[in-house]
Amino acid sequence: MSAEIVNTLLEKTATFSIEETLAFLANEYKDKVVFSTSFGQEDQVITALIAKNDLPITIFTLDTGRLFQETYDVFHKTLKKYKIDIKTYFPEARSVEELLNKKGPNSFYESVENRKECCFIRKVAPLTKALKGNEIWITGLRAEQSENRNDLAVFEYDAHFNIIKFNPLLKWTLTEVQKYIDDNNVPQNALHKKGFVSIGCAPCTRAIAEGEDIRAGRWSWESSHKECGLHSPLAPEGGTK
Ligand code: ADX
Ligand code: SF4
Repeated sequence: MSAEIVNTLLEKTATFSIEETLAFLANEYKDKVVFSTSFGQEDQVITALIAKNDLPITIFTLDTGRLFQETYDVFHKTLKKYKIDIKTYFPEARSVEELLNKKGPNSFYESVENRKECCFIRKVAPLTKALKGNEIWITGLRAEQSENRNDLAVFEYDAHFNIIKFNPLLKWTLTEVQKYIDDNNVPQNALHKKGFVSIGCAPCTRAIAEGEDIRAGRWSWESSHKECGLHSPLAPEGGTK
């Protein structure tokens, strides 16, 4: 069933621009279309497109409680510039308290399991709440970002969250993303100018050197798949990917 829907969407929107596809989805799936933003460059392009066309798409962010001040700055600037609402989901206070009481504030450096546990509490559980009851989830994923994102499709069914994902910038290069931002004066995270490409939580993100992999700055002490469970299933104890 979901595979059929994905195919139908791919066919129907084959000749549409991104803006036309966003408008089509907003109309077709009224009030059940959400876009998740981490305020990265890709997400800022999508936010600009939604705002420019005044589309009835709910924009939300997962505030893990461990973000960079620069991320909060661009969050604030985006609200002011586009006069839009961005819904914030915060981790369950009880779960964070329990984690810190049991393992301290920096347990994620000690093992992949601990890191995944923190990602589960601060990102995956709030995401599950944010996606509940919705039908289309728009993301800023790009194929170029990592090997496991290379075989994604523009529309795909996410069996874990039981939702259809739309990845409009999948085939865009970083240069194209940056050009859109510059041409349209889109607010961007100040860290991008300091060598940060993919930006997540402050303790788990570093700048990358020229020639380094785009995601090398995420959980750089690990040699894992470098996914936190938002885009690949993850058990709290880190049992899967
Ligand atoms: S992650 O899985 O490694 O954290 P990444 O930072 O590459 O993801 O971002 C890919 C997409 O996931 C973003 O374009 C955005 O749609 C979503 N995303 C990532 N982090 C967040 C967040 N904190 N809040 C909302 N959406 C997010
Ligand atoms: Fe925790 Fe780091 Fe994952 Fe953020 S990226 S949720 S701080 S482990």
